Amino acid sequence: MTEGFVKAASVSDIAENENKAFKLGDVDVLICNTKEGFFAVQNECTHQLTELEGGRVRGCFIFCPLHGQRFNLKDGTPIGQLTDKPIKTYPVKIDGDDILVCPEPAGAPTGAGPG
Ligand code: FES
Repeated sequence: MTEGFVKAASVSDIAENENKAFKLGDVDVLICNTKEGFFAVQNECTHQLTELEGGRVRGCFIFCPLHGQRFNLKDGTPIGQLTDKPIKTYPVKIDGDDILVCPEPAGAPTGAGPG
């Protein structure tokens, strides 16, 4: 079922351990390619509200490029001293070469394997 999902990018757009931001309507979504599949999160660090795009992706974590706060891409949980506020996560599906994202925040851990 892909109801509510929109195409955000192509699988080939984002190399492993890289990330890229996309605007889905009013929502600024950061798609991260990890060893465990693709994850979509809000493209905004909850520490000082700067973009997470370009941050280092390691395992299923992203590090904020500004001060290095780490967030779990599966559920948005912050790990570190700088903020205790999680980032939003969005459901992801892979359909062929398409990365589909539902721009409604997820209630449960998200992510999609390479297919
Ligand atoms: S703005 Fe992201 S860690 Fe400070």
